[in-house]
Amino acid sequence: MSDKKALLTNQATGKSVELPIRSGSVGPDAVDISALYKQTGMFTFDSGFVSTASCESSITYIDGNEGILRYRGYPIEQLAENSSFLEVAYLLLYGELPTAVQMATFDQNITRHTMINEALLRFFEGFHYDAHPMAMMVGVTGSLAAFYHDSLDIHDPRHREISAHRMIAKMPTIAAACYKHNMGEPIMYPRNDLGYCGNFMQMMFATPCEPYQVSPVAEKALNLLFILHADHEHNASTSTVRLAGSSGANPFACVAAGIASLWGPAHGGANEAVLDMLEEIGDVSNIDKYIAKAKDKKDPFRLMGFGHRVYKNMDPRATIIRQTAHEVLDELADSNNPLFELALRLEEIALQDEYFVEKKLYPNVDFYSGIIYRALGIPRTMFTVMFAIARTAGWVSHWMEMISDPAHRIGRPRQIYSGNALRDYVPVDRR
Ligand code: CMC
Repeated sequence: MSDKKALLTNQATGKSVELPIRSGSVGPDAVDISALYKQTGMFTFDSGFVSTASCESSITYIDGNEGILRYRGYPIEQLAENSSFLEVAYLLLYGELPTAVQMATFDQNITRHTMINEALLRFFEGFHYDAHPMAMMVGVTGSLAAFYHDSLDIHDPRHREISAHRMIAKMPTIAAACYKHNMGEPIMYPRNDLGYCGNFMQMMFATPCEPYQVSPVAEKALNLLFILHADHEHNASTSTVRLAGSSGANPFACVAAGIASLWGPAHGGANEAVLDMLEEIGDVSNIDKYIAKAKDKKDPFRLMGFGHRVYKNMDPRATIIRQTAHEVLDELADSNNPLFELALRLEEIALQDEYFVEKKLYPNVDFYSGIIYRALGIPRTMFTVMFAIARTAGWVSHWMEMISDPAHRIGRPRQIYSGNALRDYVPVDRR
């Protein structure tokens, strides 16, 4: 900890306390208020955690004003250009880029864990044919804990590692099974001769009736989208995983909690909502009307895929995806994609609008990702599931980091109580 201190003075009592200031390797300092209640009997209040750091972490760094995102110090642009999703997952988990031997071993470990227990496959029979895939994902992922008693001791580092590998490996298998259930098609087993993304495409789109050829363009695009979604420091779902894990809960339950949090339209559900919105707008001539709706405080409509709690500049992931969307749509012979044209025009108009400029609202990662998923043949209800597959790498890395820290404590926020102070029980006949 540095020698820097902040002085907090209560003007009502005139009393002051010195609070230590903590510094990271890069980024803003933080006033350490952990002893504040003991020292003053007061809490701090920060609804939505706008100014609150909940832990120290060395996984991901974001500078929202500059539009910077780095995993373990490596710029997202370089990883997007040169890496693979599995290599990024290794980097997030272990902190360093792997050597060739480490990568081969990791790849083999993940591949060996891609199958799910046959009994777990039968869970899908219990879901309605039209169950939302995210509903199935939450339930089936949470149920993994019922199958892997051999690796549930969270105090054993090897158990933690095996659980992390299992989740990264099994998430695409579960996700594809959700899709197959919706389609009424047989669930496809993983194929160990394919890479992570190719295998996922195979489990989604192959049938037992004929051979399936993975499209290299689709595989490359998926690899990129997974890299961009792999981690994003303490977003709602990752914070949920950490909070659930802080009680000592097993990692499968924690990741299931993360998936539930991701589902909301303000978070991972936004990519699905963006396409709904683009279809509702329908035509460039309607953009002005929808921009006006987004600005109208009495109208609940928001421009989905726009704005971010941290980025007050272009989301660097959106910049990469926008470029890739051009390439992918061209290569998949979908270059006359009217929704993409509409999205480009909507972005252009919004970025010149005073409201969006003043509030620093830029396109986020989800603005263009759905358009690429759609071009790959992935249905809308699966978009957030795709996000969940990729983010599992980040979730398990954060969970591992937290549990390995001997100083970690159960997460337990406080409140400002605003209910009735005290009242006596009234029997029912006198209410
Ligand atoms: N359209 C119109 N106005 C907006 C939008 C938007 N998309 N986003 C924020 N604003 C306005 C908001 O009304 C508020 O105005 P005012 O100051 O006058 O009250 C101001 O901008 C600040 O917004 P906020 O809601 O206080 O900001 P937040 O940090 O709490 O919320 C957000 C961030 C991402 C939830 C929000 O921008 C939003 O709802 N965006 C649309 C949903 C979306 O695209 N979510 C994906 C986020 S990126 C992927 C991920 O993390 O999962």
